[in-house]
This record gives sequence, structure tokens and C-alpha cells, in this order.
Amino acid sequence: MAESQLHPSISQAKIQALVKTLAAKISEDYKTLLEPNEDLLFVITLKGALFFGADLVRNISVPSQIDFVRLSSYGKGTQSSGTVRFLKDLEASPQGRHVLIVDEIVDSGRTLQFLRKHIEASNPKSVRICSLLSKPARREVDVVVEYLGAQVEDRFLVGYGLDHAERYRNLPDIYELK
Ligand code: IMP
Ligand code: MG
Repeated sequence: MAESQLHPSISQAKIQALVKTLAAKISEDYKTLLEPNEDLLFVITLKGALFFGADLVRNISVPSQIDFVRLSSYGKGTQSSGTVRFLKDLEASPQGRHVLIVDEIVDSGRTLQFLRKHIEASNPKSVRICSLLSKPARREVDVVVEYLGAQVEDRFLVGYGLDHAERYRNLPDIYELK
């Protein structure tokens, strides 16, 4: 079999433009939702949303806090196993808080559906989802993404946190892996 090849898909400059647009919209919306002395709780999904989450929260102008979760995902293949479980749960309690989940890409939607339900079960004030990318063609379950950067085709992407067998996460741009 030929070696995998990386084809440029979304540039660093384009990613940063998407981040700024999302952060401006989120800041605007939560400015009126948050009460005085209330912080928005960002729940960033590891490992994929590490860089997106870091870039996003640094462009947010409302008071905020960050927490991390890690959910089981693809392992070494490119297909989701369909079952989701926690490798690391939240540290902060979402009860009575405005929570914004941050993911880098929505594929089947199972991860985010699971995470949203989990957080909703502890009575937060609100839960919304922000994802840099979405592959609508791959959706298996309905999940509302309130803040979406861009839709992409059904292609396997790497870079800017996205991996294939744990490789390529550190690339500043996003590539299609063929
Ligand atoms: P879902 O539960 O099927 O929606 O899977 C979502 C997760 O799968 C994402 O947060 C990523 O971690 C991973 N994922 C989905 N598509 C890709 C891709 O094209 N490249 C790398 N990881 C992906
Ligand atoms: Mg992810």
C-alpha cells in the first residue's frame, strides 16, 4: 500500500479567522446571559480540542473558567466504535452554571450527544456546543451545534489537534489524509 499523504485543507490563517468569529459571537451572546459575577464554564474535549479550545478562550471577552473532559474515541482506526465513555470526567460541577462544550469536529455526533446529556443531568443553567468543524454527511444522531465554525466534506482530517493514530495533532494547519 502507498504511504498516506497530507493534502492542505484549512490554513492556519483561515482557522484563526473562524476562531475570532466564533469567539466574538459567543462573547456577545453570553454578555447578556451571564449575571454579574457569573463565569461561563468552557468544557474542552481532550485531546482533539486542545488547540482550538486554547485559541477560542483567549479570544473570549466575558468572565470564564475552563475545564477538560476526555472521551473515548477512534483508537487507531478512522471509524468510530459507536460507544462513548469517559476517560476523564469534569472537575468543576456544572450545576447552576452556563456551560459551553468545545469540540474540534462533529462526526457521528455520538460524543457530543453523550457529553451534552451527561452535563444536562446535573442541572446546569444552560448547555451549548461550539465546534470548529462538522461533517454533516456522517451524522448518526441529532446534535444541535449552536456555534459552528465551518462544515466540511466527509474526508479524514488531521492537524490542529486532529489525529490519526495520535499522530499529526501538532500541525498548525489542517490537512486531508489520503
Ligand atoms: P463523533 O462522536 O463520531 O462525532 O466523533 C467525534 C470525534 O471523533 C471528534 O471530536 C474527533 O476527536 C474524532 N474525529 C472525527 N472526525 C475526525 C477526523 O476527520 N480526523 C480526526 N479525528 C476525527
Ligand atoms: Mg474531539
